[in-house]
Amino acid sequence: MEPNPHPPKIGVLDSGIGGLSVLREIHRRLPHHPTLYYADQAHLPYGPRPAEETRRYVAAVTRFLLEHGAAVIVLACNAASAASLYDLREKYPNVPFVGMEPAVKPAAEATKTGVVGVLTTRTTANGHLYQRVLERYAGGVQVITQIAPELVQIAENGSQHTPESRAIIQGYVQPMVAANADHIVLACTHFPFLSDTLQAFAPGITLVDPAPAVARQVARVWPDGLTPQPAPNEYFTSGNNSRFQAVVKRVITPPVTG
Ligand code: DGL
Repeated sequence: MEPNPHPPKIGVLDSGIGGLSVLREIHRRLPHHPTLYYADQAHLPYGPRPAEETRRYVAAVTRFLLEHGAAVIVLACNAASAASLYDLREKYPNVPFVGMEPAVKPAAEATKTGVVGVLTTRTTANGHLYQRVLERYAGGVQVITQIAPELVQIAENGSQHTPESRAIIQGYVQPMVAANADHIVLACTHFPFLSDTLQAFAPGITLVDPAPAVARQVARVWPDGLTPQPAPNEYFTSGNNSRFQAVVKRVITPPVTG
């Protein structure tokens, strides 16, 4: 095999801007590891698609990231993880893959009311990863799973503060509040970008974002002996590039590399 001409990077993918909520935690934890981010916005959203279709898109993005120097790949997308994580690990046994799974474990451990809400998308809710997480960690806890497809687009558009978006967000959160949930798991990486509005409709409820735990896992799996070289962080999209770069500018503080 030809040696890869690109410096080794942490590859991060999502259907859109959601994974940037994970990327900023990776930058915080590993500020000297260059990163490569791919937003597959031409195929957004992944959540409502059949898993087989999402798997095809994620396979293509994974190839792109590997060709551009990814030494670790983060599926910074719950839906992509649900559809593809096992397959990718089988296909590339030498590449460390870090996936997202709904953070039911910390929520179930911390709940005082015994009720936990999970906001997510269809692929994630129907996937084996989520079923396994529920079986392992949710014993004795009431879990209210809410599939909330519109929230992905609201996060992409940055429109969380419009009256229409607020009504949609409230509609998803209200049943959790009414059921006395004290934690809401954000099981889609787009949702941390809606935290203000979610929190406004769920006062006193803890929003659980697994991004810091994922960043810790990335630090653990970075290959031993591979020294990160100073290199610019890169941002790609299959969608509208100028729009995407503007979002990157807004949400990612330029991290120092090298
Ligand atoms: N950000 C992705 C996730 O964490 C999904 C958004 C989508 O449906 O494309 O699941």
